[in-house]
Amino acid sequence: MPPHTLPPGGRGLPLPTAATHLARSVFLSFLCLLAVLLPPASSCPPSCLCSSDMVVDCRGRGLTSLPPLHLLPPGSRSFLLTNNRLSSLGASAFANLSSLEELDLSNNYLDNLPAGLFRDMSNLTTLNLHNNSLTVMDRDLFQGLGAIQRLDMSLNGLSSIPLGLMDELQSLRWLSLAGNRLNALERAAFEPLANLQYLELGNNPWECDCNLRDFKHWMEWLLYRGGKVDAVECTLPKDLRGRDIRSVPVEMFNYCLQLEDENGGGEGSRSGQKGIPPCSRNAFNPSGTTPVTDNTADDSPSNTGGAEAPSECVRARYRPVSVRRAIGTVVIAGVVCGIVCIMMVAAAAYGCIYASLMAKYQRELKKRQPLMGDGEADGEDREEKQISSVA
Ligand SMILES: *[C@@H]1O[C@H](CO)[C@@H](O)[C@H](O)[C@H]1NC(C)=O
Ligand SMILES: *[C@@H]1O[C@H](CO)[C@@H](O)[C@H](O)[C@H]1NC(C)=O
Ligand SMILES: *[C@@H]1O[C@H](CO)[C@@H](O)[C@H](O)[C@H]1NC(C)=O
Repeated sequence: MPPHTLPPGGRGLPLPTAATHLARSVFLSFLCLLAVLLPPASSCPPSCLCSSDMVVDCRGRGLTSLPPLHLLPPGSRSFLLTNNRLSSLGASAFANLSSLEELDLSNNYLDNLPAGLFRDMSNLTTLNLHNNSLTVMDRDLFQGLGAIQRLDMSLNGLSSIPLGLMDELQSLRWLSLAGNRLNALERAAFEPLANLQYLELGNNPWECDCNLRDFKHWMEWLLYRGGKVDAVECTLPKDLRGRDIRSVPVEMFNYCLQLEDENGGGEGSRSGQKGIPPCSRNAFNPSGTTPVTDNTADDSPSNTGGAEAPSECVRARYRPVSVRRAIGTVVIAGVVCGIVCIMMVAAAAYGCIYASLMAKYQRELKKRQPLMGDGEADGEDREEKQISSVA
């Protein structure tokens, strides 16, 4: 205390103690107030903003790793991490975040995410992985996301969607796979998505060959029950480039059935490898690089004529259809010939019967001629009745 505030004389002693008491109690109550007010505010990861509506906003902070998640306010609903520099996440990174409903990881550098990463997020309805570097998905990655409705995997480097990846996503309504490196999808991977309403598939290098046939059927079923698909433009084969696979008539894929038969049942197209027509992938490869999935290509002798292979393939594609048409023509011609033959036989039989009856009539006429003159008309009538009854 500054000396000049001290009152002169002994009488002044109680005053400073009262003042200090007051100051102390004010300070203590202030501390108490802090203790009451601060915890919710301090329970927010540094460099993030936590709002009262349970949104944790860590967007665009240049984060290279997740902020300390035990500082997340309990009961947080949204966790926004877009526009950071996250490149990997530990397998239990999101453990204990079961209250989250929205997780936004878009515009980061995430490559491979560990299996079961979202295991505990049973309340998550929106997951955004747009614009990362994902190339492979573990089939158990989306384990536990039974409530998810909106899943964005667009603008990554995905070249395939593994079977089983989306088995638990029965609530999914909106899915984007746009802007990846997908050239085929398996129908069985999408069948669990019973509630899907909207599917984005644009900007992928789709190869409209046998590998996409079953998926095309599934997509038609999705459209039939009111779903929407943005665009599935073929990049291969060349003669279908730029066309949407939905506008390609299903007859174009009839040759696939034949290939399946030759491969001994439908297993070939299921696995997506054996069902490949010999010319579909290699001959059409525009860049000259061999696709990773294609190891049968190098042994096959079909790699020789690069320029003329496509026309050969197209011809091979149409052949089964024309063969079937030819068979149909032969069958119809046979049926027509048969009918004509039967009619001819009938006509011939009729002619024979008529001729024999006429001969008989003539004979009887000759027999009767010398005997009578007026019974002739009766006899003629009788004979004519006979003829018509035979006919
Ligand atoms: C999750 O919570 C449990 C108990 O509530 C705790 O033992 C565990 O360490 C937590 N895990 C993480 C990753 O925070
Ligand atoms: C999940 O959501 C339900 C309904 O909104 C809610 O009652 C429940 O508490 C949530 N679970 C967690 C762990 O927050
Ligand atoms: C994708 O993310 C990168 C890195 O965050 C960013 O620089 C880029 O602009 C993003 N692209 C799009 C199309 O959002």
